[in-house]
Amino acid sequence: TRVAILFGGRSAEHDVSRASAANVLRSLDPSRYDVTLIGIARDGRWIVADAGNGAGIGAVALAIPDDGPQLTLLPGGHGRTLVLERNTAGIRELPAFDLFFPVLHGPNGEDGTVQGALELCDVAYVGSRVMGSAASMDKDIAKRLMRDAGLPVVPYVAMSAMSPLTYDDAVGAVGSPEVFVKPANMGSSVGVSKARTAQEFEACCGLAFRFDRKILIERCVAPVREIECSVLEDANGNIRASQLGEIVPADKHGFYSYDAKYLDDDGAALQVPADVPPPVADRIREFAIKTFRVLGCEGMARVDFFLNGQQVFVNEANTLPGFTNISMYPRLWEASGLSQSDLMDVLIGHALE
Ligand code: DAL
Ligand code: MG
Repeated sequence: TRVAILFGGRSAEHDVSRASAANVLRSLDPSRYDVTLIGIARDGRWIVADAGNGAGIGAVALAIPDDGPQLTLLPGGHGRTLVLERNTAGIRELPAFDLFFPVLHGPNGEDGTVQGALELCDVAYVGSRVMGSAASMDKDIAKRLMRDAGLPVVPYVAMSAMSPLTYDDAVGAVGSPEVFVKPANMGSSVGVSKARTAQEFEACCGLAFRFDRKILIERCVAPVREIECSVLEDANGNIRASQLGEIVPADKHGFYSYDAKYLDDDGAALQVPADVPPPVADRIREFAIKTFRVLGCEGMARVDFFLNGQQVFVNEANTLPGFTNISMYPRLWEASGLSQSDLMDVLIGHALE
């Protein structure tokens, strides 16, 4: 099977993607998959990459060369995708790929945009399609859909720069003086911060608006435990939920921030399986599968939860969850008896179905 891995990308999670892609590459059985690496530079150019290791997050991260043959993807008609390589000698057509594996996180990769391009090219790809990707990426849309389906979500209010809310408005809407402020479309906690005063609120909104035109103000649930569950759909459409994992951020970080995730080796401890009473764990797994269906996810998603005592809230679904060395998605499957390389086979099998 000829597989093209897309990685890097234009989002603030570019570095995370390079680390995820290194692990995806490592776990694809070379006797079965003929892999081509396509790096998407921060400026959006698609460049043929090799497996060389680049500096970045974690022990391994793929590098994207500064320049090299650039690729263009074109619908070829009749189910054919043209992958064209442009270099100084002109343009040539590369062999067709059977499948694309977008290992991209955040806007312009996990949000349905790249999925749309691949749809137009009529080529198979791993993971959710346009709708499921877009609905899961936008935390405002996702929460509306989940709430509508009766899933428990944390009270929040969405805000655009055109119609700003005061701190008091926001506190009134979510019902607590301590709030999280987040960009609507982003991942890895980029642009997320916590506000307890009007002054902090201004600063937090400014930060979140650097990443999106729409932001969310969310009630800060306390005390809270962060629990995650991996969901996987096989080629027959069977959807299953993994063991649960718990994230325990170090006190100095306060929450599972970008720094706690990727930059600080002792930023957070991962506990697998999570120590949660079995009835609560079953409820969380049920919610995970329901969230996956409600948001229209396909193939895979990691669904993240907040647990306050016995009360469960669905936080969000990640349709292209991290695959870095420390990432929960593959780790939870390993704990559930599915190795990373078998996981790849299921994901690819589903995509080719
Ligand atoms: N957005 C990061 C990659 C995650 O959810 O794991
Ligand atoms: Mg996320």
